[in-house]
Amino acid sequence: MSRNKTIKRIGILTGGGDCPGLNAVIRAVTKTAIIRYGLDVFGVEDGFLGLIENRIKPLKFSDVSNIIDQGGTILGSSNKADPARFCVDHTSDGKPIFEDVTDRVVENIKRAQLDVLVCIGGDGTMSAASRVTEHGVPIIGVPKTIDNDLLHTDVTFGFNTAVTIATEAMDRIRTTASSHSRVMLVEMMGRNAGWITLYAGAASGADIILIPEIEFDLDAVCRRCIDRSQHGKAYTLVAVSEGAKPKGGHVVVDRVVQESPDPIRLGGVSEVLSHDIAKRTHLECRATILGHVQRGGTPTTFDRTLATLFGYHAVGLMMKGQMNHMVVWKKGNLGAVPIHQVADKQKLIQLDNALLAACRATGASFGDAG
Ligand code: F6P
Repeated sequence: MSRNKTIKRIGILTGGGDCPGLNAVIRAVTKTAIIRYGLDVFGVEDGFLGLIENRIKPLKFSDVSNIIDQGGTILGSSNKADPARFCVDHTSDGKPIFEDVTDRVVENIKRAQLDVLVCIGGDGTMSAASRVTEHGVPIIGVPKTIDNDLLHTDVTFGFNTAVTIATEAMDRIRTTASSHSRVMLVEMMGRNAGWITLYAGAASGADIILIPEIEFDLDAVCRRCIDRSQHGKAYTLVAVSEGAKPKGGHVVVDRVVQESPDPIRLGGVSEVLSHDIAKRTHLECRATILGHVQRGGTPTTFDRTLATLFGYHAVGLMMKGQMNHMVVWKKGNLGAVPIHQVADKQKLIQLDNALLAACRATGASFGDAG
């Protein structure tokens, strides 16, 4: 394999919330870079935070052996370290003080003599990466997130594992819902995108699927629960996105992480809904918030293979000189798009989505009609 002589040393970082498959990408990038091209590989600790604080260490072949099946990231990650808006201190009343520390990042990359940086992350990481490329740092992006909300790629790694975990949870909740004739709500992550909920809802045959892209009508949700309890099944299984909201209403915010570029953390809508449905229908309701269990543990076979393809392709792109692009999976093929086209954007479910139509056709309610 011919080698791009200008690239000798590469860095890898994992940014944003972690997800299963990160280690499989780190492994694929490192092994491809070493075996195919004889490059020196360096790992940046805790995402962009490690570049701000100059925590960069060599990644050897042995460091990435036996990690393909491990959840989390051996490099660590941070979702509070956007170099353009980094919290350097707090005011006396606890408000964060932000500074643009991009120059420090560029300086540390130069000091480590990194020719290219591989940034594995979601939209926040791609936005930060895009701004760093404007300072002359060549970057290759790899799309990660359980939320599957990155634009221009059909799928991100981590999503399949999260859907598998959520589907298994739904299957388990179904049996107890049935035993007790209850309305059971299962809340899934995804921020403002309903991908996990749509796929896990479809795969588990949920009776009601509530996603951020379709505002729900509480009356319609209650009617469906009552209909089921009166005609046929005494229980109702509801898959609900953390970002679901009622018509004209608001999302339920769990907390605000002020230092984070995207400070709002959603959570708790299923608890609110559980009480609202119980009050209106007098049916017994319970809510289960799946939370970070969706991000933990071993990646599925699909995510391990996608992560391996992405990592391998990322190195191929840089060696071809196709910098400042993010690897994508489109219509069954590997490809690449300029990182700036992905930055600050989100891929949401369109109303003509085929799985959404299939769910409706097989009897699921999205809470938007009687
Ligand atoms: O983006 C991944 C994600 O897990 C979202 O689905 C969720 O809303 C958020 O991160 C949770 O963030 P944190 O780990 O900061 O609680």
